[in-house]
Amino acid sequence: LNMMGLNLSLTEEHLAVQQAARDFAQTELLPGVIERDESQHFPDELVRKMGELGFLGMMVSPTYGGGGMDTVSYVLAMEELSKVDASASVMVSVNNSLVCYGLEAFGTEEQKQKYLVPLASGKTIGAFALSEPEAGSDATSQHTSAVDMGDYYLLNGTKNWITNGGRAGIYLVIAQTNPEKGHKGINCLIVEKGMEGFQIGKKENKLGIRGSDTHSLMFTDVKVPKENRIGADGFGFKFAMSTLNGGRIGIAAQALGIASGAYELSLQYSKERKAFGKAISEHQATQFKLAEMATNIEAARLLCFNAALDKDNHRDYVKSAAMAKLFASKVAMDTTVEAVQIHGGYGFVKEFHVERMMRDAKITQIYEGTSEIQKIVIAREILK
Ligand code: CAA
Ligand code: FAD
Repeated sequence: LNMMGLNLSLTEEHLAVQQAARDFAQTELLPGVIERDESQHFPDELVRKMGELGFLGMMVSPTYGGGGMDTVSYVLAMEELSKVDASASVMVSVNNSLVCYGLEAFGTEEQKQKYLVPLASGKTIGAFALSEPEAGSDATSQHTSAVDMGDYYLLNGTKNWITNGGRAGIYLVIAQTNPEKGHKGINCLIVEKGMEGFQIGKKENKLGIRGSDTHSLMFTDVKVPKENRIGADGFGFKFAMSTLNGGRIGIAAQALGIASGAYELSLQYSKERKAFGKAISEHQATQFKLAEMATNIEAARLLCFNAALDKDNHRDYVKSAAMAKLFASKVAMDTTVEAVQIHGGYGFVKEFHVERMMRDAKITQIYEGTSEIQKIVIAREILK
């Protein structure tokens, strides 16, 4: 694959990761995916298997029990898992990009030993808590407070929409310590499930990614030891933004996978379904839909690899990650809507998967920064 003057040849290792993710998705994720969507329940057993296969700590250094893989491998795995089950892949994305990456890049050696090691192996799973009932896109206006009490922080407030909220053992919680300093007063604290005063709120009943658990979190006078702060005092907002840059590559790859999964099903179905004496794939209207899907997916894939290569080669990836997420999430939405159309009435029922993919696609335009926020990020980068 030749792009932007760079020659990206997938290595044996890349191909092996891609194949492992494809096999896992087909044999383990596909069988129960419709039921998980309906019941909104994701069995612990499947999470354990994802951990055993190394999907939950793919990019973490082997020193801390991770797979030591690059971002290109991560994109390949995310695409394959998302082709089948976007609820499984969001767990993989949050654990890898937001939680493990954040701890590995900015945590102390003690924090890495205590928290990163179990997270990288999937022994426990992590959550990233930035959003609040009244602060989503406008992430600097944090209402959750972390008051400095000397050797601990007193944490109070509510977080909303937290992925892995019920399942996680370790939470990275963003909170305001010094309101007078604005975003430079914000800290990120590592909070453990079971700390006194930490309550997990109700599970949301959602349009899509219904197998993924999304909860609110409530903190009432939770005493978080000082040593659980990540980075220097006031580093929390920069921490959140830095981890989200990589997270956006993961979600872009998730969107890419949802799109390519829906496209593959549509391609196959269009060759089998007959109308007016021939396969619907022989009608030009269907061919044009397939041609457009394939072209958009290819473009989305190149943007994902472009962002992954920027990250792997230590170039700035703020803009390329935002572009990949903005574009791939639109491709996921457009492709899945057309996939339902190609399937006709069958597309509207659960057994054919594409209606779920259409519902799942929507979230990729909302979380880890809405499409409007990605445009703000891109515009700032190109105008600065
Ligand atoms: N990378 C690094 N630093 C960044 C950054 C980025 N992408 N974006 C902003 N910053 C830095 C700025 O440089 C600035 O720091 P300095 O003052 O030191 O220069 C600081 O952050 C504040 O930035 P702004 O002045 O630009 O702040 P703003 O309020 O005008 O806008 C924003 C910031 C880009 C809109 C930001 O609030 C944002 O990204 N919002 C979206 C929040 C989001 O993505 N939430 C996702 C939650 S997690 C999730 O959703 C997980 C999941 O679903 C699975
Ligand atoms: P708002 O910020 O209120 O936005 C509403 C609308 O206004 C959007 O269309 C937005 O684009 C637009 N808008 C806002 N500001 C501007 C502007 N300046 N210019 C133009 N348009 C603007 N958060 C976490 O911290 N951790 C998680 O694990 C997590 N998981 C999630 C899982 C799910 C299923 C969902 C639904 C959300 C999750 N989120 C998580 C929260 C998610 O990141 C936010 O919902 C998202 O950032 C948008 O914030 P909001 O919902 O408050 O919308």
